[in-house]
Amino acid sequence: MNIPIARTSLTDMEINSVLEPLSSGWIVQGPKVKEFEDKWSNFTKAKHSIAVTSCTTGLHLSLVALGIKPEDEIIVPAFTWIATANVVEHLNAKVVFCDIDLKTFNINIESLKSKITKKTKAIIPVHLFGLSADMNPILELAKRNNIRIVEDAACGFGAKYNDAHVGTLGDTGCFSFHPRKAITTGEGGMITTNNDDLAEKIRSLRDHGATVSDFQRHHGSRPYLLSEHSYAGYNYRMTDIQAALGLSQMKRAEQVCDERRMIGNKYNKRLENINFFQLPIEMKNYQHGYQSYPCLFDIHNISLKNIEKINNNRNSFMDVLQQNGISTRPATHAVHMLDYYKRKYKLKSEDFPNAYIANECSISFPLFNGLTGDEQEYVIKIIEKNL
Ligand SMILES: Cc1ncc(COP(=O)(O)O)c(C=O)c1O
Repeated sequence: MNIPIARTSLTDMEINSVLEPLSSGWIVQGPKVKEFEDKWSNFTKAKHSIAVTSCTTGLHLSLVALGIKPEDEIIVPAFTWIATANVVEHLNAKVVFCDIDLKTFNINIESLKSKITKKTKAIIPVHLFGLSADMNPILELAKRNNIRIVEDAACGFGAKYNDAHVGTLGDTGCFSFHPRKAITTGEGGMITTNNDDLAEKIRSLRDHGATVSDFQRHHGSRPYLLSEHSYAGYNYRMTDIQAALGLSQMKRAEQVCDERRMIGNKYNKRLENINFFQLPIEMKNYQHGYQSYPCLFDIHNISLKNIEKINNNRNSFMDVLQQNGISTRPATHAVHMLDYYKRKYKLKSEDFPNAYIANECSISFPLFNGLTGDEQEYVIKIIEKNL
């Protein structure tokens, strides 16, 4: 068998959905993007959804719209995809890392508190791998200190916190439609917000700062007159081709979530018996979206002292699984250990010990829509056989 870490699974109807914009004569941001946004708002219960070219550009636009300036401090968990930090660098603002909880891989509240200063302008909590960050204490800290919240919900499709879909709790939330995510448009992203002014600003900023979109202008009474531009914006527009693909998958959104949760729960049940990995957890009042299936390797022996040995063993284990046709990955990376950030901010791996441990000792197993029962049985069998 050959089981990748993720595999795109689109129905014929979903594949064919891109033909409609392709043959309509309008393929850039237009009616399909609007429909996709409306569907997304409907699903997440966000007041506004604004489609963009990726989660990264969504995070960037959110910070721009919130008025982040050079030298402002933005707090980012050290264990996340590099994009969460990069968007802060793009604005010449300062990335301030904080550590994570090893049980959830999400932001650690005590570490977060210790990083707040007068210069802190925003926090980017990340809902890693489909599990919501603990938002209540984060929102409370933000309110008390007049700090904005941009939720990195790249992996957050189907993830809930006290019945609220992630991405609807902060000032903005940003989702990814990269093929490793539950809904894909190839590349793509969605910004959600309940704030009318922010929504209007973000809509304009994604389109060079225009006050009227191309579609509105072309279909209005005076298409020959160009738009006014109120900001020096960007081209972060999603195409109608991508939106048609995303929209068609949203028709089975609940089914997509249920299937991922079913696969996640099956791993939970079967791997629990092995008692060797830390498995994903789902606390009371949370709903895990299972964007992926992140574990910690050799959980009972994990400590900073053992980190090298466990890392070596994990890598050998990943190697054996790969030889058996099963792809695994570290859950994600510790950004403070990556060359650019290490050099710029003079950081050591041990500065954020849990992020360091997660970087060296985490392992994700294949989880995606369309993973068959036989394939999952095979993954479990090979794991059991090689421990
Ligand atoms: C936590 C996190 N943030 C941001 C991103 C960036 O998303 P995109 O590739 O859509 O820009 C990713 C992508 O995997 C991610 O995992």
